[in-house]
Amino acid sequence: MDKPEIRSCLELIKPYQPGKPVDEVERELGLKGVIKMASNENPAGPSSKAVEVMKRHAEKMHVYPDGNCYYLKRATAEKLGVKPEQLVFGNGSDELLSFLTLAYINPGDEAVMVTPSFSEYVFAMRLMGGEIKKVPLEEDTFEYNLDNVLEQVNEKTKLIFLCSPNNPSGTVIKKGELDRFLEKLPEKVLVVMDQAYLEFATDPDHPDGVEYVKKGMPVVALRTFSKIYGLAGLRIGYGVAPEEVAADINRVREPFNVNAMAQAAALEALNDEEHLKKSRQLVNESRKHLTEGFAGLGVKPVPDQANFCFVDIKVDSREAFQALLKQGVIVRTGDIFGFPTYLRITYGTIEQNNKLIEALKNVLNELQ
Ligand SMILES: Cc1ncc(COP(=O)(O)O)c(C=O)c1O
Repeated sequence: MDKPEIRSCLELIKPYQPGKPVDEVERELGLKGVIKMASNENPAGPSSKAVEVMKRHAEKMHVYPDGNCYYLKRATAEKLGVKPEQLVFGNGSDELLSFLTLAYINPGDEAVMVTPSFSEYVFAMRLMGGEIKKVPLEEDTFEYNLDNVLEQVNEKTKLIFLCSPNNPSGTVIKKGELDRFLEKLPEKVLVVMDQAYLEFATDPDHPDGVEYVKKGMPVVALRTFSKIYGLAGLRIGYGVAPEEVAADINRVREPFNVNAMAQAAALEALNDEEHLKKSRQLVNESRKHLTEGFAGLGVKPVPDQANFCFVDIKVDSREAFQALLKQGVIVRTGDIFGFPTYLRITYGTIEQNNKLIEALKNVLNELQ
């Protein structure tokens, strides 16, 4: 077909390959009871209070959503101790990443990120023709070394993406290290602290990006309702930023980017402390359970502060993925992050964990 030429910067972008949905695997392989431990969702599901409010809200779907997320913004601002004007909501926190590059990146501008980390930073940069510099995490431990990140910052750098807890390693930045890093950072560079998994972190030394925003630092903290809140299907997340940055982001935001059902459910989920506590507890129990299960198979995950783990199974992760799939277990392969013998596995219910361990045992016997 004779079509216009695609923008040259998009030639570098490959469409995102999401984890396979359960329905698709069941249909393709003729299986039942398939489990997905691939996308870091909450196996406890959403808050029942959020579910109730969504049922009531269904009848109002003929009306456009509130383009300013008024009630949700006020409630979130109050909870975090920031001004409503410092918040921008998005269709998932993913959308905030694109908003940031849309607002700040001209072709040739640079960003720095660590590797392995979340692939959407690269996507958002490439979308605008930006360049991204990748700094490896420490070998084996996957710890951050922010001095190495700083070394890559130059006059073209506009954004730095720091993910803590980091996807896929589950490792975190330490407060002291971040403090020192921010002190040395040149002017006009914005640090994007992606904290999609913040609520799972138990390390008292783990920094909360919002605290840095409150101190007036050049930081945008990203949060989501997709993980601990169990609302991934609704697509809602937000950024907490200095007011001037929030104003810049609002220039590129479409008027009704967050749907009404998502706003209603998130408002309810925000303060459902019981659901949050239950979800956190499930992850802590699940981590202990899976770690013991892995030990029985002679494999050791990277110590994590998230709702998933990254584990070296010492065999080709794509082959292991296919073999696990046939046994009804969906996981994420490490090759997409540059670690071809690792799997990223979301902590599940005890039942799901048992199924995974049993399947992995068979797979390792077959492939080792
Ligand atoms: C580190 C990280 N940031 C952001 C996101 C995107 O979350 P959302 O569902 O809010 O777009 C994810 C999702 O997996 C993630 O792992």
